[in-house]
Amino acid sequence: LLGFGTVGSSVAEILCSNHFPNLQLVCIFNRNVARKRQLWVPAGVRWTEDIHEVIASDADIVVEVLGGLEPTADWIELMLRAGKSVVTANKHLIATRGRELAKLAQAEGRRLEYGASVAGGVPVLNAVSAGLAGEALLRLQGVLNGTCNYILSNMDASGMPFDKALARAQELGFAEADPSDDIHGIDARCKLAILAHTGFGLHVEPEQIEARSIVGIAAEDFQQARKRGRTIRQVSMAERTAGGLRAVVQPAMVRANSSVGQVRDNQNVLVTTGHWGGETTFAGRGAGGGPTAVAVVSDLLAIARHQALGGARADSAAEVQCDFHFHHYLRAEVADAKDSALLEVTLREAGLDIQESKTSRKRKKGKSATTRVLLLGPSTTAKVEEALSAWGSQCPRCVLPLID
Ligand SMILES: NC(=O)c1ccc[n+]([C@@H]2O[C@H](COP(=O)([O-])OP(=O)(O)OC[C@H]3O[C@@H](n4cnc5c(N)ncnc54)[C@H](OP(=O)(O)O)[C@@H]3O)[C@@H](O)[C@H]2O)c1
Repeated sequence: LLGFGTVGSSVAEILCSNHFPNLQLVCIFNRNVARKRQLWVPAGVRWTEDIHEVIASDADIVVEVLGGLEPTADWIELMLRAGKSVVTANKHLIATRGRELAKLAQAEGRRLEYGASVAGGVPVLNAVSAGLAGEALLRLQGVLNGTCNYILSNMDASGMPFDKALARAQELGFAEADPSDDIHGIDARCKLAILAHTGFGLHVEPEQIEARSIVGIAAEDFQQARKRGRTIRQVSMAERTAGGLRAVVQPAMVRANSSVGQVRDNQNVLVTTGHWGGETTFAGRGAGGGPTAVAVVSDLLAIARHQALGGARADSAAEVQCDFHFHHYLRAEVADAKDSALLEVTLREAGLDIQESKTSRKRKKGKSATTRVLLLGPSTTAKVEEALSAWGSQCPRCVLPLID
């Protein structure tokens, strides 16, 4: 077991519970290992901070729950070359190096399983690859990042501002000290790249998928969403196109009564749309030690039982477009009447159709503030963003597509 942190200690607990007699924990690796020792771990388990001791051990399978890309990827390579199968929960690693490591595992006659890397305890990868193997998948849409969902669903429920919701998520362990990868969509796009590979058989680099941040969403955007029967979630979506894939991760206004709109706290949801069977929804605890460890142990059992998991459908490189067309909600704070008029002119000149427009004035911090709320006709989010940069104003704004 490489890594004795949140997930690793939960994996160890399950393995030491004697529920699975064909799985035996033999070795735990971590830096500064002395502070990690637990009395409930059987005395026969070796604790080490020397990776070469793990490589030289007689373990058949190595669980990697260290996180990070380096030196983790090199260590996984060493393990595979030493004849050990590998189970990992590391989405960054699988999204960026998974293809080459899977090839190496195959060449070595070993297995590389990563069921825990997307949606933690919700077995979406196995469901998409095995349970839906007979389906022609058209679309995958969901909430894949528990941190963003915790922040957004709490802003929705309590009206608290973004910074406070983030601080609360950090206090409760739902957000890391540096939450950048989560809030800017980097984590979710790694998961979407893995899902696209598993579901569509298309190889996608995470950087090919546009990711937009949830920073800038304010409590009043939730009020506006509610007026439209909607709420705001970070949505990951990918759909097959004739030439490849269309995919994006971005905050969006979604219907409050939809599967995506109803997902709360740090939960995840994935809705698959197939040609034959229509929509199927998977939901549950996408993160946390216990749920993620269950996914890891399930992969261990599959290897121990020589049970084939679905794997990817095929493996071809994909062109990725991000040009989804949606109506957009736009909230823009304007400095004065001139700024407001310029906003409208700039949007119209960019070819955007202003379908609704409301102006409100209130006093903020002793100054009068004017807010424009607009509903724009179908376009790409990039086109709206481009028009706003031509507007030139540095005033706060928020752009959200309306997704069904
Ligand atoms: N937590 C979740 O809910 C969740 C869900 C799905 C997937 N995952 C994935 O699971 C993996 C582990 O996550 P986690 O939350 O368990 O992380 P974590 O709590 O930070 O645990 C990582 C453990 O590995 C040790 N470690 C890290 N780098 C090391 C190195 N270079 N050498 C030796 N030891 C090292 C850490 O030691 P220190 O204590 O010294 O830092 C820590 O004990 C990540 O890939 C993550 O993306 C996590």
